[in-house]
Amino acid sequence: MTAAERKPLTLHRLRAMHAAGDKLVMLTCYDASFARVLDEAGVDLLLVGDSLGMVLQGRDSTLPVTLDEMAYHTQCVARGNRFGWVIADLPFGAYHATVAQAVDSAARLMQAGAHMVKLEGGGWTAPVVAALVERGMPVCAHLGLTPQSVHALGGWRVQGRDDDAAARLKRDARELVDAGAALMVLELMPSALAAELQASLPIPLVGIGAGPGVAGQVLVLHDMLGITGGRVPRFVRNFMADGGSVGDAVRRYVAAVRDGSFPDPMLHGY
Ligand code: KIV
Repeated sequence: MTAAERKPLTLHRLRAMHAAGDKLVMLTCYDASFARVLDEAGVDLLLVGDSLGMVLQGRDSTLPVTLDEMAYHTQCVARGNRFGWVIADLPFGAYHATVAQAVDSAARLMQAGAHMVKLEGGGWTAPVVAALVERGMPVCAHLGLTPQSVHALGGWRVQGRDDDAAARLKRDARELVDAGAALMVLELMPSALAAELQASLPIPLVGIGAGPGVAGQVLVLHDMLGITGGRVPRFVRNFMADGGSVGDAVRRYVAAVRDGSFPDPMLHGY
């Protein structure tokens, strides 16, 4: 498809893609230059993730990231983007106190150029999701390993392995869908559980370390470009390994997600 034929993604078209069985391609993105590269390579969903705290700022968790920082990076990404759907993370502490605080924080990110906001966790977040959706702010939920709760979860571990934990995740996911979440990220959980959730829920689920049985995939940009220092999680594939430009690597990722060759359940699944 040429740039002249391509149209900016909307929630309506995202739902139509999901209904047609098309895979959704998401990558994290934190600035205008990369937004341009990702957009031109055909990435559907540009996530201004609070992972920027670790990737750009060199911190050891996402917890210190502020709403001001998220708004700044959302503005940068929005300026570089033409066709993608921009999702901005509500950072830790920006939606935890009250529903009113969450509404104010989400409005700030929407004004910065986000098309949708993302928040982590289930249970107490369902009324927050309902309030944002009622006020015209689309919401992406995030379950499984939720990095803002890393200390409560006991580290970066696979979630939902035992029956109780799996049942809790299923209940949380259903409540978030009922509250109006239009998209959901599933991070670090058994592939079978993620596939079961996808089969039982009407919205697209986007996995990271959640296997191939979901509607879409997301990776942290710097991980898939092989420029993250230290150990990368097993679910990451280095798309720069075959050489070429950053644009080539992103195009390989887009193609691999669309044709289902990434993630490989044996190499990248749990
Ligand atoms: O902040 C982030 O990059 C994320 C992804 C890991 C999904 O939430």
